[in-house]
Amino acid sequence: MIEIDVPSHYVGREQAFVKHHFLRSYLERLVHKIASVYDEVVYVDGYSGPWKSEDEAYADTSFGIALQSLTAARKSWLEMPQRRRDVRMTAHLVEKQIGPFRELSGIGGQFSQVTVHPHRGDFVGLAPTIANSLPSRAFTFSLIDPKGFKIDLEALRPLLSRPRSEVVFNFMFDFANRFTVLPSLSNTYDRLFPGVDWRARLAAVSDDPNAGPAERKAAFLECFKDAVREVGGFTYVADVDIRYPGKDRTYYFLVYGTRDARGIEVFRDCQVKALEAQSTIAGQMSIAKRETAGQSSLFGTEWEKPAVSHRQFLGEERAAARSTLLEIATKSPGAAWGSVWPRLLAAHAIRKTDAGAIANSLRKEAAIEFPGWPSGKRVPSDEYRVFAV
Ligand SMILES: C[S@@+](CC[C@H](N)C(=O)[O-])C[C@H]1O[C@@H](n2cnc3c(N)ncnc32)[C@H](O)[C@@H]1O
Repeated sequence: MIEIDVPSHYVGREQAFVKHHFLRSYLERLVHKIASVYDEVVYVDGYSGPWKSEDEAYADTSFGIALQSLTAARKSWLEMPQRRRDVRMTAHLVEKQIGPFRELSGIGGQFSQVTVHPHRGDFVGLAPTIANSLPSRAFTFSLIDPKGFKIDLEALRPLLSRPRSEVVFNFMFDFANRFTVLPSLSNTYDRLFPGVDWRARLAAVSDDPNAGPAERKAAFLECFKDAVREVGGFTYVADVDIRYPGKDRTYYFLVYGTRDARGIEVFRDCQVKALEAQSTIAGQMSIAKRETAGQSSLFGTEWEKPAVSHRQFLGEERAAARSTLLEIATKSPGAAWGSVWPRLLAAHAIRKTDAGAIANSLRKEAAIEFPGWPSGKRVPSDEYRVFAV
């Protein structure tokens, strides 16, 4: 198991550590890659805080992590021998509350390589204005991390549907999932899932005697992913399940939308790292709990349900991806591998290397074939075509 040192100021909010761990690893790779092609990279943080931050350099906040990544990528391209690039880095940080906003207003000085625009107000109201102010050639990454789920997704269309853009949403699943039958919140869900027949879909799961909580959870998440896909016009929408610290219960999902196969590749690599972090934290917490319980067992300390092993989860995802590949080979014979692996990665939490290995093992089992596969080759090239046998 990997060693993960959770800084002390994340204790009690380890789910934020997992989120930030994911964000850091994703942005470090994304921004560097993007800056090789685009002359300007824009980061938009819709609900930026600072919120519960205890680090002077804001390294425990989403915007602090993003500004560090933008700074590092800019410097690295400026210093690149032969291929030097001067990439403009811009950040729009939105915060509604006056206290955190005052702090935000002062942070530009700490990140001199980035042009920081702090905005005070409601993100949903400000999003169209921010979107209009962005140069069309810039690449935009938006993080939308509210505390609740009362969001008018349609109002975010000008920002999300920009052709060169990606988004990560924090979908507050555990709160949002509780109230769907409340008539007073019906309009809230209409705004959260615009254009999605969420009532019929959720009713169908409730009426299905074979469907349990897992099916209901999947249906509810799918409503949000479909809404993000439609509003943003994204080709791939994927999610990461963030659990309550040390528990086998979803707190929220990070929902990711991109138009680029390379984006989904990096996303899945980072998800696996985030799951390792989550699993390590769960392990550390249960050891700590056992030690405390040992000292105070007279008080009948309750044990947490052990977290599902991320290895088991990833194994299940690989098995599901195998079935999807067989289905694609049957339904779309001759599909190019370059169009197949991004579909597998979008649908399942597997890495690109896993997709290649699955293809190779199905080929060896003579369940699928790739005409012209040379001996000694271990994973398919993008131009190879796949057929069911
Ligand atoms: C969950 S915190 C964000 C945490 C931050 N993304 C991070 O990971 O470090 C949500 C923040 O959004 C702010 N907020 C709440 N409603 C807002 C709104 N309508 N528009 C903009 N900011 C809002 C809150 O004051 C709070 O600071």
